[in-house]
Amino acid sequence: MSNRYAVVLAAGQGTRMKSKLHKVLHLVCGKPMVQHVLDTLAVMQVHDVVVVVGHGAEAVKSTLGDGITYALQAEQLGTAHAVQQALPFLKDKHGTTLILYGDVPLLTADTLTALTDHHHQQQAAATVLTAQLSDPTGYGRIVRDEAGEVLRIVEHKDANETERSIQEINTGIYCFDNEKMWKALAQVGNDNVQGEYYLTDCIEILRKAGEKVTAFVMSDPEESNGVNDRVQLAQAEAYMRKRICERHMRNGVTIVDPGHTYIDSDVTIGMDTVIHPGTYLRGKTEIGADCVIGPQADLTDVVIADKVSLSYTVVTGSQVETEAVIGPFAYVRPGSHIGSKVKIGDFVEVKNTKVGAGSKIPHLSYVGDAEIGQAVNIGCGTVTVNYDGAKKHKTIVEDHAFIGCNTNLIAPIHVGKHAYVAAGSTVNQDVPDEALAIARERQVNKPGYANKLPRKQGKKQ
Ligand code: UD1
Ligand code: CA
Repeated sequence: MSNRYAVVLAAGQGTRMKSKLHKVLHLVCGKPMVQHVLDTLAVMQVHDVVVVVGHGAEAVKSTLGDGITYALQAEQLGTAHAVQQALPFLKDKHGTTLILYGDVPLLTADTLTALTDHHHQQQAAATVLTAQLSDPTGYGRIVRDEAGEVLRIVEHKDANETERSIQEINTGIYCFDNEKMWKALAQVGNDNVQGEYYLTDCIEILRKAGEKVTAFVMSDPEESNGVNDRVQLAQAEAYMRKRICERHMRNGVTIVDPGHTYIDSDVTIGMDTVIHPGTYLRGKTEIGADCVIGPQADLTDVVIADKVSLSYTVVTGSQVETEAVIGPFAYVRPGSHIGSKVKIGDFVEVKNTKVGAGSKIPHLSYVGDAEIGQAVNIGCGTVTVNYDGAKKHKTIVEDHAFIGCNTNLIAPIHVGKHAYVAAGSTVNQDVPDEALAIARERQVNKPGYANKLPRKQGKKQ
């Protein structure tokens, strides 16, 4: 296989997005659209990638990081001019160069591999990725001769009526012999309706130089759809979301209603897990096998083991072990580790807390900055009082401890193994192993109290 390079164009302003955020940084299924393009190139093991940046260059660079080469196109003079900015990085290289757009996030590695395979089989100098569209308005059209050979590409704005009736369009994605591409680019002028340097002109230039130029017609044109406004952004999102759900379903995940399930592209899910509607699985979330997730689960960067059940719940930046049951209506915040067979029930908030295997926090509690041992019972309405107004403090509850209902644990505090805290207590001193702490007013009953009061008028005696 010859060496492969890629130039990703991402310098355009993207005015139609009407956004402070650069167009290629808008998210599609949780990831900036240009990152999708780079990830696809990584799958194809294209290592020399040059991203051409212009508008919003700093924002694009800081989002994508240092692993990539950037070329600056200070002024946007057209797609040929944009590619030319990558010349210093790729000029002396032998091999094949792919041209991609940062705002075309749906293309798959399969399609691009088919394109490059075709290019190599045909031993072409250039291969255009084309599509047949019922409405080709706005796109460059592929002009072929009687024998079906590609002659040139004509932009919609420059096309005559006959050319405008052509339904085969230029997706804007190409494969070039690297050295021939630079030679052709040097000859591109800007004598056209838009006064721009058109990359599309390279096709005719190569043809006229006697080089072979081919087209590869893609089977699913939607993959080449670009994003220019928020309507197209939502369309790209819907398309990718469907593709992601289908991939998981084919891998043995039940998705009850794919139309109402929102899974980011890098999420992994094990076999026989069932995902109920209204569920968002975001970021680097990993879900094990045989889980039941949702309805209405919102998980971001969460690692979940097998056989976990979780409904109507938000979990962020945490880990959940096997057979844990979370929700309904729980909120697990970053830095938490929920042990095996743990129950986190309704209206419970857990933050930066480790909960040991088999422990239960079934209802109405706040547990923050805590270490809860194994087989601990945290009664309804327990609050770890972790904040003194300046600093956060730690609560430690050891294995088999029992915290009665409506307890305040004023941190820093340590409750020992097999210890009990009586319901309604506000404890601010450590509780030794196996002890019972009672920290509340003793109850006083006043016998006959009611009889000492005058009976209210009209009340039953
Ligand atoms: C281009 C093609 C057209 C094709 C269409 C597919 C040309 C002349 N035309 O047209 O045949 O059907 O794509 O969508 O190439 N860009 C830069 N710098 C520039 C100009 C553009 O980085 O100076 C980037 C844009 O950010 C964008 C991409 O290149 O991501 C395409 O540019 P755009 O102006 O949208 O090209 P089209 O007119 O759509
Ligand atoms: Ca465009």
